[in-house]
Formats: sequence, structure tokens, C-alpha cells
Amino acid sequence: MYTEKVMDHFEHPRNVGEIENASGVGTVGNAKCGDIMRMYLDIDEDGIIRDCKFKTFGCGAAVATSSMATELVKGKNVQDALLVTNKAVMEALDGLPPVKVHCSLLAEEAIHAALWDYAGKHGIEIEGLVKPKSDIHEGEEAEEEEY
Ligand code: FES
Repeated sequence: MYTEKVMDHFEHPRNVGEIENASGVGTVGNAKCGDIMRMYLDIDEDGIIRDCKFKTFGCGAAVATSSMATELVKGKNVQDALLVTNKAVMEALDGLPPVKVHCSLLAEEAIHAALWDYAGKHGIEIEGLVKPKSDIHEGEEAEEEEY
């Protein structure tokens, strides 16, 4: 059902954790299943994403897609990070079962929410970035679990 790459990223997720004093943090919830993800970005003065970490209270597909998404955004500038869509992440994982496609949206939305946070704090505009619909603010989670 899952590709080897999905299983690899699920069993050995990259970049799990948090970044202290992150440049941008985004927390989103998946409307379809109620799962939650938080993404942290460390962005340098040239707008390059130097580090990216995530925590999720989500399923295996959410873990695998987030892990791959963090790998894909690292080293990109904030504009190019928008190219890391859920489709791009799924392609990098050699696909996901159709019923799990919605899980891959968490990572994309969490990256966008973290970029939105970064852009707001620094007064910059990232072309094509829209306000995240499902950003969850600190303290709103009923329960937070670390993967
Ligand atoms: Fe919720 Fe996968 S079932 S993110």
C-alpha cells in the first residue's frame, strides 16, 4: 500500500522536533481528520531556509510527508519554498494511496503558515503566499503530542 520511500520516512522521520527562537512557526489542523502539525523554520538574513523541524499529532502518512517536506524546503529561499506543494512532496515519495492524499496537505499548509508568520514578523511579502486558513494559535490545541 505504501511505497518504500513513504515507509522509510515514516520509520525514520527526518527533522522531528522544534527550533528555539524560530524565524517562523505555523500550526495547522487537518479539517478532514482533526490531526495537528506544527512546523518551525529557521531563515537567515538572505531569506534562505537553513533549518526546518516539525512535530505532529497525525498519522503515518502525515509523518512521512512532513519529513519529506522538511527535507525539500531546507536550503531553499522563502519564495521557492512555495514550490514544495503537497503534490511535489507526494511525487518525491513515489506516491501515496488515494485515501491518504489529504494527509499530505498538513505539511504544505504548515509550511505556508510558518512562512506567513515569518513574513508578518519581518514585514515582507512572499509572492503567492496566502493567509493560512487553518492556523491554530498557541494554547488552542486540546492536547499536543510529540511524534
Ligand atoms: Fe489525519 Fe492522515 S489521517 S493526517
